[in-house]
Amino acid sequence: MTLIAELERAAAGFTAALAGAASAAEVESLRNAVLGRKGELAALMSRLPELPADERPAFGKAANAAKERLNRLLEERLAAFKAQVDGASLSRFDPSMPGRMPERGSLHPVTLVMEELCRILNNLGFETVDGPEAETDFHNFEALNFPADHPARDMQDTLFLGDGLLMRTHTSPMQVRAMLERKKPPVAVIAPGKVYRRDYDLTHSPMFHQVEGLLVDDGVNLAHLRGVLTHLLRELFGPDVALYFRPSFFPFTEPSVEVDMSCVICRGSGRKGGEDGCRVCKGTGRLEILGAGMVDPAVFAAVGFDPSCTGFAFGLGVERVAMLKYGIDDLRLFFENDLRFLGRFVK
Ligand code: PHE
Repeated sequence: MTLIAELERAAAGFTAALAGAASAAEVESLRNAVLGRKGELAALMSRLPELPADERPAFGKAANAAKERLNRLLEERLAAFKAQVDGASLSRFDPSMPGRMPERGSLHPVTLVMEELCRILNNLGFETVDGPEAETDFHNFEALNFPADHPARDMQDTLFLGDGLLMRTHTSPMQVRAMLERKKPPVAVIAPGKVYRRDYDLTHSPMFHQVEGLLVDDGVNLAHLRGVLTHLLRELFGPDVALYFRPSFFPFTEPSVEVDMSCVICRGSGRKGGEDGCRVCKGTGRLEILGAGMVDPAVFAAVGFDPSCTGFAFGLGVERVAMLKYGIDDLRLFFENDLRFLGRFVK
């Protein structure tokens, strides 16, 4: 067979193979086999010296023409495959499908409750104040009438930092800071924030939140405290909530009270759905909700106020309120950052 005839046969073979190629990848491998540097066409060209000199130009021309034609065919084929792929992905696009919404963040239930507490109290005229979580012994204990070595310090499971600093065990040091700052009555502040205790189990977390309230003014008495707390708890839990004051002890208030409210689940009956005792209040019909009292004269003295001043203070656990408000029975849920839990509290 002449070289020209071999060239034509190779070209025909390539054309047929191209037509039969099932993918762009197959086309690419044909390009290598036929048109590549070590491909069939190159092999034929290298045999040019076999031809008599006068036939060489014609063969060279024919070979170049064949190469060009085959290249063009190959590019067409590749373009066709590409168009197919684009078409396929377009046909998979369904404009009626719902879009993918970006996940929306939401506020933590503790934040929501804290904001609500502040809103209610701000509306009564209490100003929100803020202070350090790493506190001095003076602000956390001494000025609050906890003398050094007094057993009442035991109740506070303190995390000490050294150098006279500790993690505040309650928000009450903000009473001291607010009075020192204002220098004289009236003082009407609330202090929301984190507090720390060396305690960890089902119902205690080493970090939790409190909101402190303090009112110092002429003639403040226990009835004012009761009025403010009744308003606060009814705003939070509904107009039927009843409050009970129980005598208690805090070094910085005298008298001191522990405030209970009627159970939000069984509405104070102690029963739930008939004969079973209510699980939330353990059948008592009441829930312990906060500590409070009249500011002790020793605290006024420590901050340079006239010890005959009158004032009340209260401190309330935010997680406790959030658990009752949202019916959450495991404190740990607040701190595990599980989005399935946190995503349920959208305002
Ligand atoms: N600070 C107290 C506590 O955390 C609560 C409290 C605040 C009691 C203000 C009385 C007055 O236990």
